[in-house]
Amino acid sequence: MTNLKNVNIGPSNNAPIGIFDSGVGGLSIAKCISEQLPHEGLIYVADTLHAPYGEKSIDFIIERVNTIAHRLVKQGAKVLVIACNTATVNAISQLREQLSIPIIGVEPAIKPAALQSKSKKVAVLVTQATSENSQFKSLITKHQNGAQVFIQPCPGLVEKIEQGLSDSHCCDQLLRRYLLPLIAQKVDRIVLGCTHYPFLQQQIKRIIEEEKASILLVETALPVTLQLISQLERHNLSAAKSNIGTRQFYSSKNTNIQQELFTKLWQNPLTLQSF
Ligand code: DGL
Repeated sequence: MTNLKNVNIGPSNNAPIGIFDSGVGGLSIAKCISEQLPHEGLIYVADTLHAPYGEKSIDFIIERVNTIAHRLVKQGAKVLVIACNTATVNAISQLREQLSIPIIGVEPAIKPAALQSKSKKVAVLVTQATSENSQFKSLITKHQNGAQVFIQPCPGLVEKIEQGLSDSHCCDQLLRRYLLPLIAQKVDRIVLGCTHYPFLQQQIKRIIEEEKASILLVETALPVTLQLISQLERHNLSAAKSNIGTRQFYSSKNTNIQQELFTKLWQNPLTLQSF
């Protein structure tokens, strides 16, 4: 058996973890990582100029993922977290063929939702691009465990979050359009299959309550963080406990509005830099 502790791992253990998404959605993952691993340095990249990925072609998504991943590696990232379901299902396999560092992706949590569901009816909210992806469909077949899974593409939601319009009437209208048919189907678990959607949890829960439904939301921030921790340990890449974990934030569309939105969602002061 290989003693993984002796593997020559290259970059220094105190090098940062690179995390990226099409926009602010991946902050829902980065926040959990930041809380669980305070001594790890983090570099977060939002490709805001090109969001939403969910309405782009596969080739476009792959091209953006490669550009960002290579830039993060140049900046010294020891591990990458693709904090985006759409980018994971469409681009992680080819990225793993190019890079030798560990790459952790995000997939909708179909398995726990199907296992926990009592009505055996589960819904998954995703972007258009994820809903059409064959890897995503195989994930459902593999993990549905006898449950009926309703795939609900949600065009427009990512834009509303990126524009800081999560509490607007038009966002509420969109949510009702997507949720009411699922509530009528009596699903009892809704999987948030896009990392932006945890930022709409309150709004979603309000609609569920108004409809007097009993539905739990299932998201992936903690499982992804645990997977990251296990990869860091496996590759002997964990930062020293004495390391001061810095947090750096970049966006390909660095405006005052973005700066405000980042600060609001991160719930801490930060300086947004241009990517
Ligand atoms: N946050 C992303 C996801 O998890 C991408 C959303 C988008 O850009 O469409 O799918």
